[in-house]
Amino acid sequence: MRVLGIESSCDETAVAVVEDGYKLLSNAVASSMDLHAQYGGVVPEIAARSHIEAITPMINQALQDANTDWDDIDAIAVTHGAGLGGSLLIGVLAARTLAITKQKPLYGINHMEAHVYANFLTESALPGYVMPPSQPQFPLLALIVSGGHTQLALFADHFTYRLLGQTQDDAIGEAFDKVAKILGLPYPGGPSVSKKALEGDPKAYQLPKAHMGGAYDFSFSGLKTAVLRLAQKEIGEDFTFPSTKLPERLSERQKADIAASFQRIAIETVVGKALQAFDEFQPASVVIAGGVSANQELRKQLAAALPISVQYTDIKLATDNGAMIATLGCFKRLHNQPTADPYTLGISPSLSM
Ligand code: KG4
Ligand code: ZN
Repeated sequence: MRVLGIESSCDETAVAVVEDGYKLLSNAVASSMDLHAQYGGVVPEIAARSHIEAITPMINQALQDANTDWDDIDAIAVTHGAGLGGSLLIGVLAARTLAITKQKPLYGINHMEAHVYANFLTESALPGYVMPPSQPQFPLLALIVSGGHTQLALFADHFTYRLLGQTQDDAIGEAFDKVAKILGLPYPGGPSVSKKALEGDPKAYQLPKAHMGGAYDFSFSGLKTAVLRLAQKEIGEDFTFPSTKLPERLSERQKADIAASFQRIAIETVVGKALQAFDEFQPASVVIAGGVSANQELRKQLAAALPISVQYTDIKLATDNGAMIATLGCFKRLHNQPTADPYTLGISPSLSM
């Protein structure tokens, strides 16, 4: 059984073909990230326009790379939320059109659920993918950490899960991106802040950890503001000093120490909650999804904290991609989940888990 997955919720136009929910046949991705870099974050209009240009070439490439024609595709799966409205619309309209013209069942996919399903891919027909040797077991604790999401969810089984908690403001990746901007480091901030942090002392500064009402909820906007105030104080200025002028005034030493101190607290926060959830629910497996799972400090702290080892999927499958959408589509088909109406499937920009 082969499912074609389409993802266009943010700045990646991604299409992939997955077989039987475990085998990756293709994974085509066009990213408009370079176009957003000069603005320090994703610009919705630019993202939507890029999806329009990339969607058809990516669909064709995914089929070609998978050595598959439409006759061998059993269903189409598409992200219908959460994400940027204009971006989601392009993927959903493409999927609806194909479902009608090629007469294929259509599945509307929740983007955050799909991030978890990237971890069910265990085999690749493509070179250069390092995947876990076996699929995760239930009960499954999932930590989703990316530029758009910070969530902890507990899956009792396929399609039976509950959201334990989520961020109440910024996502953790977003906090990395904003701190990078304060320090004058390139976008995306995750890789650049963690690289800078290698030169710094993670204990140089004490930054605050947010305490939330919900045991598993997160907040990162206070931490980001604390970094801004710290940077202003370090150069002897007050809160009125413009953040855009900070990079030229901070020394490389100060930047490295701020990056390392911020990273330590941000990562300690998610690892602390993951450990608390592990102790409470005793899951058989723990999976980490989203772009921030590439963070080495996160991997180090998790390995030290958790009594079971976490298996990571390839970074190309941890960031936004079509394969995770196709994989969840496969499981929906295997478990007789309801299909979507190709004439009416809408977008849900603020869909939650
Ligand atoms: O999953 P993803 O590609 O897209 C979203 O759904 O948001 O995640 C992108 C996010 C960005 O905020 C980026 O700064 C962050 O993941 N990221 C990292 C690292 N690599 C990427 N954050 C921390 N450390 C990293 N090494
Ligand atoms: Zn995502």
